[in-house]
Amino acid sequence: MMEKTHSGYSNKKIWAVGGGKGGVGKSLVSANVSICLALMGHKVITIDLDLGGANLHTCLGLPIPKTTLSDYISGKVTNFEDLLVATPITNLKIISGAQDELGMANLKNLHKHQLIQKLHELEADYILFDLGAGTAFNTIDFFITADKGILVVLPEPTSIENTYRFIKTVFYRRLKMIEGIEVVEPLIDEALNAKITTGQLSPSDLIRKISQDHPELGAKIRHELASFKPNLIMNQVRSQADIDIGYSIQSICRKYFGIEMPFPGYLDYDQSVWQSVRKRKPLLVEFPNSKLVTNFDRIVHRLIES
Ligand SMILES: Nc1ncnc2c1ncn2[C@@H]1O[C@H](COP(=O)(O)OP(=O)(O)O)[C@@H](O)[C@H]1O
Ligand SMILES: [Mg+2]
Repeated sequence: MMEKTHSGYSNKKIWAVGGGKGGVGKSLVSANVSICLALMGHKVITIDLDLGGANLHTCLGLPIPKTTLSDYISGKVTNFEDLLVATPITNLKIISGAQDELGMANLKNLHKHQLIQKLHELEADYILFDLGAGTAFNTIDFFITADKGILVVLPEPTSIENTYRFIKTVFYRRLKMIEGIEVVEPLIDEALNAKITTGQLSPSDLIRKISQDHPELGAKIRHELASFKPNLIMNQVRSQADIDIGYSIQSICRKYFGIEMPFPGYLDYDQSVWQSVRKRKPLLVEFPNSKLVTNFDRIVHRLIES
């Protein structure tokens, strides 16, 4: 259990839920992982950062909230805490996403860093980021600042490809933040542009190459890699073969990127998902006997323990 200090939440954990494309189940995962944590007695705040395609509220059975991140970005709301919206679940509050792309187009770099800071200052045991689709820097940068990254994948080629692209983009974005990395930037760019399939210069080749001439830099990069452990969730599983795709992604990431990718579990394809959305009720609350309850329970326990 979390230990709370009088001054606040010293043990605060930030988890980011991402994935290469829209419709893979990021909001479903964010909403239901949040519900699990809240039911366990943790104070949870979940933020819809899918700026332009916000739908976290729907997965929680809430109407479009009156105040959203757009109001903060546009300056209409100045007190960040005023964005917090209560949910029918005790211990769970959300901040709803921008309902228009315009809000996000205004999210310049300075704003982004201010926003990230505000998100990290929120008072809760767990703060969850429900991210947008794609590999735009706005999405990647939210992902990078979290303590734990979660990637939702579907067992289909486009989603798998997008997942590798996402990991690759995060990988290089993190490398570029390393002090002194400028000297090897051309090499990094070369590796970034190499295709996974042909693998001219894989990230692990890259590190070997860098380490030869710049051992200190090589060590820093290795350290950076060791701490990069995005968690994989395979969604909409219909067979054991679908689950096994998760294990192959894990082994490809180990070989190609040299990273360990925990696989805390999968989610069955289940009719209860759209039924709960249609009923405007949170899945775990409306269908307590659904297979997904067991799926989520396992995933959340493994995430907490890792
Ligand atoms: N495990 C599942 N079983 C059945 N349908 C699912 C499942 N996961 C997602 N879906 C369907 O996909 C839709 C998109 O999921 P959502 O979480 O909104 O995706 P994202 O946030 O990644 O865009 C859901 O509304 C639901 O209809
Ligand atoms: Mg979403």
